[in-house]
Amino acid sequence: MKQSLIVANWKLNPPSLKEARALFLAAESVGGSARVSVVVAAPFVYLAEGKTLLKRTRLGAQDVFWEERGAYTGAVGPQMLKGVGASYVIIGHSERREHFGETNEVVHAKVKAALTAGLRIILCVGEKSRDGDPTEAAAFIKEEVVAALRGTPKKYAPHITIAYEPIWAISGIGGVPDTPASTREMAIFIRKTIFDFFGARAARSVAVLYGGSANPKNARAFLEEGGVDGLLVGHASISAASFTAVVHVAARARRMP
Ligand code: PGA
Repeated sequence: MKQSLIVANWKLNPPSLKEARALFLAAESVGGSARVSVVVAAPFVYLAEGKTLLKRTRLGAQDVFWEERGAYTGAVGPQMLKGVGASYVIIGHSERREHFGETNEVVHAKVKAALTAGLRIILCVGEKSRDGDPTEAAAFIKEEVVAALRGTPKKYAPHITIAYEPIWAISGIGGVPDTPASTREMAIFIRKTIFDFFGARAARSVAVLYGGSANPKNARAFLEEGGVDGLLVGHASISAASFTAVVHVAARARRMP
């Protein structure tokens, strides 16, 4: 059975360090088994605390700037993240694209800086809608993947995870989860895009996740039937009970090598 990757994306949560500690400890209680690898992507201000509490669970950030230093008020660079113990960073989440104006160009600059610094990236891609011509969603996703990875040397493939997150499925905007069957088609399409980009061998080391209203009830179906290597979990990751439940489900899911 293959190991699954479960990533908690806390977004702008929780409001207090005390609650953040409780969530870190819950993640640590289930993190890092032979069946599941767990990453917690926490707000910047909680990363240092995460480093002290997480041993088997990996620490991630939700964003990164593309420069290492300089006159960029409010920015956080890749080496700063590494320095406080983050090994993963989410890049290009649809909420960053929507509320912070991130373009494919910006995403590309962040991908390059993060990989060069030795971080593992979780690159988020996903269409806004599935209405109309189905090839449009595929073309949109391909453009996001190719624009973000343009010029990336193959050697970085093992450090790249692609999270397929259809925007209409994200719970924060009242989304409903995709079906495992259609996620499977998109996962195959993303793998084919990576295959064309990096070649067969490197493409095999790129993990593909599903995100969008993933929860303890649907996690198993996405992992077993959705053709993905894991899940990016937003809303269900900010309750200790539901996040640990997702990880338990993932540990029992039968994903064939
Ligand atoms: P959700 O968020 O699980 O709350 O839908 C997922 C994400 O946006 O990463």
